[in-house]
Amino acid sequence: MATTITITGAGGQIGYALLFRIAAGAMLGPDEKVRLRLLEIPQGLKSAEGAALELQDGAFDLLESVDVTDDAAQGFDGSNIALLVGARPRGPGMERADLLAANAGIFGPQGKAIAESASSDVRVTVVGNPANTNALIAAASADGVPATRFTALTRLDENRARAQLALALDAPVSDIRQVAIWGNHSATQFPDITHATAGGRPVIEALAERVGDVQAWQEQTFIPRVAKRGAEIIDVRGSSSVASAANAAIEHTRDWVRGTDDWTSAGIVSRGEYGVPEGLVSSFPVRSVDGEWQVVEGIELSDWARGRIDTSIRELTEERDAVRALGML
Ligand code: NAD
Ligand code: LMR
Repeated sequence: MATTITITGAGGQIGYALLFRIAAGAMLGPDEKVRLRLLEIPQGLKSAEGAALELQDGAFDLLESVDVTDDAAQGFDGSNIALLVGARPRGPGMERADLLAANAGIFGPQGKAIAESASSDVRVTVVGNPANTNALIAAASADGVPATRFTALTRLDENRARAQLALALDAPVSDIRQVAIWGNHSATQFPDITHATAGGRPVIEALAERVGDVQAWQEQTFIPRVAKRGAEIIDVRGSSSVASAANAAIEHTRDWVRGTDDWTSAGIVSRGEYGVPEGLVSSFPVRSVDGEWQVVEGIELSDWARGRIDTSIRELTEERDAVRALGML
């Protein structure tokens, strides 16, 4: 049996960076056949159709079929994995509330279509921004689908944080573990290194030898660098991150399906863990066990860390309230 994977916005940049890696087995491994469903809006169909032609030309052993559609029911039909990438970008003069409303108009109907058409084991990951609140809207619109099946991508933030620590410590990035991302995929997020290790040694201890005042380094260098990395990429590249975002979405999904030994981070629907109001989609340190994300329990939070998390949770609450005020939730 092949796994059916739906990618919305498949004709866009991240879609293009995802499709060929998935077809080559990067997400589900070298033994799992895949069926791809590329869901676009009419303006994006040609681009998705072009990608489908190139997928044919890749002659991928694992690729069983590719369908391109602008019909959500068809796009999510039998879907086991849905990567919701297509979103409305912020345009000139658009306020945050306008952006939330435009995206609620996309993610509400997509959540409904997932409930109606997808496989009962569907796993949904929202990449399109504002990812956390879009995931919340999709989850709230998907009657009958457990909230645990909806996630927002914050793995890119974790990867960015690990990479910055590796640079600061002159250590291989594979040595850096247990970095946690809390809160929103936005500039308010809290990349938390309190329990991080580098080659088994506490990162905070190792950093002290390199940067001196670790607290000041976190506040003035590390956190802004990670939390504003998306903006930095836009500034330098001229458009938002693509290959690194696709890579993170692949890693997130792979870990969700296949499990993790260690911590990672994902935006999941809160059940009240660490005081995050129930129902908000917040990033937490998580493990993937038996196909489900589990929040890492028992982490001690300093007052400073608590304050950082609360700031990001306040932003998520405001986003949810703005969507509610528009009558879209
Ligand atoms: P893009 O503009 O290149 O592609 C977006 C595609 O989505 C377009 O082809 C468009 O036609 C399609 N689309 C729009 N509305 C749709 C709908 N209702 N249904 C299906 N398709 C639809 O953008 P991109 O660079 O691929 O980025 C996509 C999104 O990912 C953006 O919102 C971006 O901000 C976000 N992003 C998130 C992260 C993260 O870590 N969570 C990282 C990078 C980018
Ligand atoms: C990123 O983190 O690179 C993106 O979410 C930035 C953006 O606003 O598209």
